[in-house]
Amino acid sequence: MKNWFFLVLLSFNVRALTLDETLYVAINAFELEGNLCQKKSEPKSSSLTEIGKIIFERPVLSGDKDTACANCHLDNQALADGLPLAIGVGGSGEGEDRMKSEGAVVPRNAFTLFSRGDERFNTFFWDGKVQKVEGKIYSPIGEGFSLGFDSALSVASVLPLLARDEFLGTSKPFNANRHVDLVESQYYIDKIPAQNTFIQERLQEIKDPDVLNLLAALESANLTKEELNLQLVGNALASFIRKKTNEDCQPSPWQKYIRGNNSSLSKDQKEGALLFYGKARCASCHSGDLMSDMAFHSIAVPQGEQGPHLFGQDLGRALVTLDTEDRYTFRTPSLVAVSKTAPYGHNGIFPTLEGVVKHHISPIFYFRDLNISDQMILKNNEAIDSRSELLRWIRLDENELDKLLAFLNAL
Ligand code: HEC
Ligand code: HEC
Repeated sequence: MKNWFFLVLLSFNVRALTLDETLYVAINAFELEGNLCQKKSEPKSSSLTEIGKIIFERPVLSGDKDTACANCHLDNQALADGLPLAIGVGGSGEGEDRMKSEGAVVPRNAFTLFSRGDERFNTFFWDGKVQKVEGKIYSPIGEGFSLGFDSALSVASVLPLLARDEFLGTSKPFNANRHVDLVESQYYIDKIPAQNTFIQERLQEIKDPDVLNLLAALESANLTKEELNLQLVGNALASFIRKKTNEDCQPSPWQKYIRGNNSSLSKDQKEGALLFYGKARCASCHSGDLMSDMAFHSIAVPQGEQGPHLFGQDLGRALVTLDTEDRYTFRTPSLVAVSKTAPYGHNGIFPTLEGVVKHHISPIFYFRDLNISDQMILKNNEAIDSRSELLRWIRLDENELDKLLAFLNAL
């Protein structure tokens, strides 16, 4: 009897773990909770949310009244825009049409806004120019909390309003408008009062139906129009983004799996997940439920012609820290809903998930497939040189790569 007991115990212990059991070991080790779609504290519909909705969806605060957040964060593109580089002021239409329009090019790939309201999401933009660290929000317009912004998302939400290519300007380089005149030449923190002057002037335009709607929303929030300053705009936008992404949040198959639903992933996807958290080492950077360590790394993304810095290059984090070590590093992108947000990379240079994943393993694929000139390779030398050490140990064969991609489709 006793032996039988031990035998059972032993066979239980030495029996190889099933695929699901092994994956749950990884899930526990990486402390994943699967709680991205748990409804958060945001009240159902606050009057602030209504103000945010108008500013998000309508071009009411753009210099030429031609751009709104919703032009680049579209409902039918998982709140991104589907373009390699975003097209801002002066642009019209969506997708291919927008690429053909006269709009100003914003030299980076747009993000989705899903999960951006999550408390753990504390580093915004490809270069992390808005970052919450130890209770302070660092940003180009100053420390966010002391200025009256309620969150890092709130600060991140107003920066597009202050950018010439996204909101202020016209797409013609030498033309200006009242908004550009007021805000553009101001240095950092002085942009806030300049923008506030612009907002008050815009609110005088009571023939504009968008302005009228905004005034009505302010009234139902018991706010005077003078109270609509940049901080309130940010808090309202953040409140709207949190509410919208909470309401539209559908737990992904992977999120469901983490919470115990074994049948939400296929066998290939489960094997892909094991690779992601194991041999393929993806989770050394794409960690946590948000699938980002909120830190900066270089995967040697080829530089396009349109980067915002030096010779059309994009130096990424280095332009925030002014540290040459940070050149070509970018915030690890969250992989939430990643299969829906093509193209990929900070400059949208990879049309497919397969392309960007292969590039982590070796930059040779990219140059080989495009049969690129020596000049182009020379131009990318520094970016390739900056490639993170962490990428050196990824070993995958083609079959494994397919499984990894199947997993990415479950996020
Ligand atoms: C012209 C297109 C465009 C418009 C208009 C636009 N965005 Fe974006 N958005 C982008 C791009 C491109 C990025 C990435 C830029 C970067 O990281 O440098 C981005 C990034 C963001 C981020 C950071 C997300 C992250 O993961 O770090 C937030 C938040 C955001 N936008 C909110 C807004 C809000 C709110 C508005 C309206 C006030 C707005 N955007 C208008 C294109 C646009
Ligand atoms: C060294 C840290 C690091 C590791 C390890 C890593 N990544 Fe990344 N990943 C990044 C960074 C940084 C970017 C953005 C780089 C850029 O655009 O310049 C990125 C971009 C991506 C993107 C594109 C996302 C988008 O929205 O554009 C995908 C998909 C991705 N990684 C998947 C993976 C997979 C799968 C693995 C494992 C094989 C992996 N990553 C390993 C840091 C890492």
